[in-house]
Amino acid sequence: GKVAVLYGGHSAERDVSLRSGKAVHSALNAVGIDAVLIDPKVDGLEAIKNSQCDRVWNALHGRGGEDGVIQAHLQLLGLPYTGSGVMASAIAMDKLRTKLIWQAMGYPVAKHRMLNTGVLSIEQAADVLVDMNDCVMVKPIREGSSVGMAKANNAETLVEAVNSAKQYDREVMLEQWIDGDEYTVSILNGKALPSIRVKTPNTFYDFQAKYQSNTTEYLCPSGLNAEDEAELAELSQVAFYALGCEGWGRVDLMRERSSGNWYLLEVNTVPGMTETSLVPKAAKQSGMSFEELVVAVLETSFV
Ligand code: DAL
Ligand code: MG
Repeated sequence: GKVAVLYGGHSAERDVSLRSGKAVHSALNAVGIDAVLIDPKVDGLEAIKNSQCDRVWNALHGRGGEDGVIQAHLQLLGLPYTGSGVMASAIAMDKLRTKLIWQAMGYPVAKHRMLNTGVLSIEQAADVLVDMNDCVMVKPIREGSSVGMAKANNAETLVEAVNSAKQYDREVMLEQWIDGDEYTVSILNGKALPSIRVKTPNTFYDFQAKYQSNTTEYLCPSGLNAEDEAELAELSQVAFYALGCEGWGRVDLMRERSSGNWYLLEVNTVPGMTETSLVPKAAKQSGMSFEELVVAVLETSFV
C-alpha cells in the first residue's frame, strides 16, 4: 500500500519538518515503498484521505503535528501512523507537564517553575535568580528545536528572555541552568540506541547549533563507560514509557559536570530526520542505515 509522508505544517519548526519529510520520502522510495509527500499547510488535510494511503509516516514537528492534534485526526480516519498516540504526543510537547510526571515518578529533573500570567517584574526576576543559583534557562513550554529559548543570569536579561519566549507560547518555563553536557538517547521500539553527546561552542545547543552550524560536534559513541551508558539507556527508556510514548522518539538529557548526575529535559515524539539530525546518527552507530531506520519506524505505526 501507499504511505503518506506528512511534512511542513504550520509550526515554528516548519522548515525543519520540510527537510525531515523530504529525507524520509526519498528513503522510502529508495527501498521501493510507494510514498507521497503531503504538507497540511499547502495541500490541506483532505489531501491525506484523498491520497488513498493506508499508512502515515508523520514527519511533522512542533505544534499541530507533534502534539496529538494530527494524531487525533489520523485516528479518526482509521489510518495507522508512526510515533506516539494522542495523549503521549500532547504531554511530550509540553515540557512542563512532562517534568511534573517525571517528578512524580521520582525521575531526575532540574528545578523549575512556570510563568503563565502577566509580566515578570525586575524584582520578581531577581528573586527567581536567587532561588535558582543565579542562572536560568527560559523556554516556551510547547516548542521545539530550541525556538524561543534563552539563558539568563541577571534580572534584565531574564525579563527580556521571558518576553521573547512569550511570543511562542503564553506559558513559559524557567529552569535552573545545569552546568554540564547535553546527551540524547534515541528510542526505537522501546529500546535505547547508542547515546550521543552534543558539543557546541554556543552557549547552548540552540537553533543555529542544530541546523546551521559546522562547529557542532556529535559524539557517538558518546564516550560514556559501559555502566553509565547502561544507566542512561535505562533512564531514557523508563522516561519515555512514563509519558506513554510509543514507536520511536528521542529523550534529551543533561549531565551535570560537578556531580555526574543526569537531568531529564524532554522527549521529542517526532525527532528530526534531517542530514544533521540525531536519531539517524544513533541508528548508524548501531549498524542501521537511514533507509533501514525509516522502514523500522514505519513498521512501528499503529492505529
Ligand atoms: N524538534 C526537533 C525536530 C528535534 O527534536 O529533532
Ligand atoms: Mg524538542
